[in-house]
Amino acid sequence: MPLVLEGIVSTRADDGGAHLAPMGPWIDEAQRGRPTSLVLLPFATSRTAVHLARDGVGVFHVTDDCLLLARLIAGVEVPVPVRPAVAVEGWVIEDCCRAFEFRVATADRATPRQQLAATVVHVHEGRPFFGWNRAAAAVVEGAVHVSRLPLLGAAEVGRRLEALRTAIDKTAGERERAAFALLVSAVAAAGYADGSSSPAAGARADRPIP
Ligand SMILES: Cc1cc2nc3c(=O)[nH]c(=O)nc-3n(C[C@H](O)[C@H](O)[C@H](O)COP(=O)(O)O)c2cc1C
Repeated sequence: MPLVLEGIVSTRADDGGAHLAPMGPWIDEAQRGRPTSLVLLPFATSRTAVHLARDGVGVFHVTDDCLLLARLIAGVEVPVPVRPAVAVEGWVIEDCCRAFEFRVATADRATPRQQLAATVVHVHEGRPFFGWNRAAAAVVEGAVHVSRLPLLGAAEVGRRLEALRTAIDKTAGERERAAFALLVSAVAAAGYADGSSSPAAGARADRPIP
């Protein structure tokens, strides 16, 4: 049985640099310890899908950096240190826990959410995973909702973020708090743009972000 492992996929941008996007590929239960294959499920409309169709390779990263996740979803551009991949033309995020270089083996592009079965061709072991934290998990969940803003609308996504706020209030450190504020700001901006009111409107992400 497959399960979804949330992480960040890097592909080659048009200028050859690193393009990063949160993605949740399927992993085979039996490969929990050391995945040797992944099934990526990028929407055809995503840049990642376009890059993978062109190059057929990328790098999947396991990370505990929920602030990076939120920045990517909120469209906040910050330099992310990367190094060249070893076995494919691509990029590895320096600050990650594990990275899996992959090559797409078979592709089903018949549906809007493509199914790209990929073989892991090189593994990087990075720094240790920090550990469980409810606020970080809430940021991951919130980021998924925010990535669906065009589908769900600002008001609904704002409500979903508010439902996650308890975990932030009780367990967040600075990075989790900053990450959540970024998500809230993205929803507020979308709320202003589409003219609807959002419970998130008015929230601000103007604290210094570590
Ligand atoms: C935790 C997480 C997992 C995600 N998994 C996927 C996924 O499997 N497929 C997908 O198309 N989008 C997924 N998304 C949404 C994309 O990250 C989002 O649409 C992003 O803007 C795509 O970027 P790109 O167009 O630059 O590739 C996920 C978002 C989050 C926060």
